[in-house]
Amino acid sequence: MKLNTLPKVAVTALLARMADEQTARYFYEAAAAYCRVNGYDKAEKHFLAEAKSENDHYARIVSFLSDWGVIIDFPAIKAPVTSFTDFLDLLSKAYQMEFDLLESYEEDALTVMQECMNTFGLIQEYINIQNESVIEYANMITKAEKYLPTDKNLVLFEAEVFE
Ligand SMILES: [Fe+2]
Repeated sequence: MKLNTLPKVAVTALLARMADEQTARYFYEAAAAYCRVNGYDKAEKHFLAEAKSENDHYARIVSFLSDWGVIIDFPAIKAPVTSFTDFLDLLSKAYQMEFDLLESYEEDALTVMQECMNTFGLIQEYINIQNESVIEYANMITKAEKYLPTDKNLVLFEAEVFE
């Protein structure tokens, strides 16, 4: 029998966010590499874990589409930001990326809700994930601004934030 699938508007939105989640993954790989080069070992571990969870976010969208019978036209990804002037710059770029992705999911929610409450439910979960990430990086920036002037090697910052 012919099975039901997702409306085009839902597929289009999810394909775009799949690409963004992969860009986020590579951003965090680059962040981890920056931390490794600079000897910020705990921060490196944190960003490697972030890269893995971004890949999980990506994979979950792939599964959702596949489970609904969508033949995925895998999207090209945008080149991630991969260079950082210092640690605070890295955190600021992480914050901005997470905030932009929050806004994208919010726009998707508005577009999709008229046609597919099922996809809307998935997007709502991703909005919650983005909300937590934005808050996490906002809090890190606040702490970094407090510690960095006297803590160039990030010893206090890493102890407070990553332990
Ligand atoms: Fe993500």
